[in-house]
Amino acid sequence: MVGCARETVVTGFACFGAAIALCIALYFVYLFLEIHVLSGTSLTKYGANKKSRGTGSWALVTGATDGIGREFSVQLAQNGFNIVLVSRTVEKLVALGADIESKYPGTKTAHYAMDFAVATPAQYEELAKLTSHLDVAVLINNVGLSHAMPVPFIEMDPVEMNKIVMVNIVATQHVTRIFAPRLARRKAGLILNLGSFSGQWATPLLTTYAGSKAFLIAWSQALGEELRHENVDVQLLNTFFVVSSMSKVRRPSAMVPMPKSYVRAALQRINRSSGALGRPYTLTPWPVHAYVDWITNYIVPRGFLLRKAYSTSLDTRRRAIRKAERELKAL
Ligand SMILES: NC(=O)c1ccc[n+]([C@@H]2O[C@H](COP(=O)([O-])OP(=O)(O)OC[C@H]3O[C@@H](n4cnc5c(N)ncnc54)[C@H](OP(=O)(O)O)[C@@H]3O)[C@@H](O)[C@H]2O)c1
Repeated sequence: MVGCARETVVTGFACFGAAIALCIALYFVYLFLEIHVLSGTSLTKYGANKKSRGTGSWALVTGATDGIGREFSVQLAQNGFNIVLVSRTVEKLVALGADIESKYPGTKTAHYAMDFAVATPAQYEELAKLTSHLDVAVLINNVGLSHAMPVPFIEMDPVEMNKIVMVNIVATQHVTRIFAPRLARRKAGLILNLGSFSGQWATPLLTTYAGSKAFLIAWSQALGEELRHENVDVQLLNTFFVVSSMSKVRRPSAMVPMPKSYVRAALQRINRSSGALGRPYTLTPWPVHAYVDWITNYIVPRGFLLRKAYSTSLDTRRRAIRKAERELKAL
């Protein structure tokens, strides 16, 4: 009798263990599918029309003329959107608009030049007016500014500090405040916010940049839940390094994709999570970043990450100072 009861208990524990092992295995299979296999929402949901270019809805991209923003502008046009380009330098905007229109005949472009670091309410009003007759369905909040080089907060230039907050937080709010109500009215829209691993881990010596990107994490989630009820999809794109003038990385690798590959991965995974599994309204589009995201979020202790980020930033700062000194000597 006692032996039988013991056997039942052992079998019960074994079944429980097997069930847990199965759940864990299924979780990792699902994570793999999220990162590599499952595709996201089709862009046609938001009015893209590849077959009859020019008749589709519009996408607006901030920081549109270089790096990731330029690639979003080109690939959204390729996918059948008309594009509003917003950035700082008018010549670059004109050239990119012409480039897109000749590459994808029929596509319409419009542009507006503004410096988000010093933008006035009148400029935001002008942007709203300029686009009021356009059926904007997609907003890519891409513009972003980082520190010229890693710097201890106590030595930070207040002008640079202010610019980062203005571009990364204030401008993103104002632009979204213009377009989110329009997206809500049309009952189908998409807002993508360019986030950074700096906001997730917190990066010492890039304090203001990291803080501004951390703001975008909370803001995107809150906004996503609000706009879900209006059929507007919101996602923060959690991003590690991408080749660009901001990252100062010139050579691509598995860890650092070219903007073209990065944006293609993002547009294929709209409304999925990939490595940000379990974090609502967040997508880590690039597969290698997705693994780093998952491991650092769920396994590596935060204190270890902070110390590692500090020593990496310090190293980058030393190299940047040496480079600046060399350049000064060469003058
Ligand atoms: N690259 C990365 O490794 C990385 C990693 C994580 C997150 N991100 C985020 O991704 C986004 C794009 O970064 P990126 O590397 O592609 O940048 P980028 O190559 O430096 O391009 C920046 C773009 O933004 C425009 N811009 C810069 N300052 C502006 C201002 N004050 N007002 C208006 N436009 C301005 C630039 O226009 P002009 O050419 O006219 O100056 C350019 O079109 C940012 O939000 C960044 O934080 C990037």
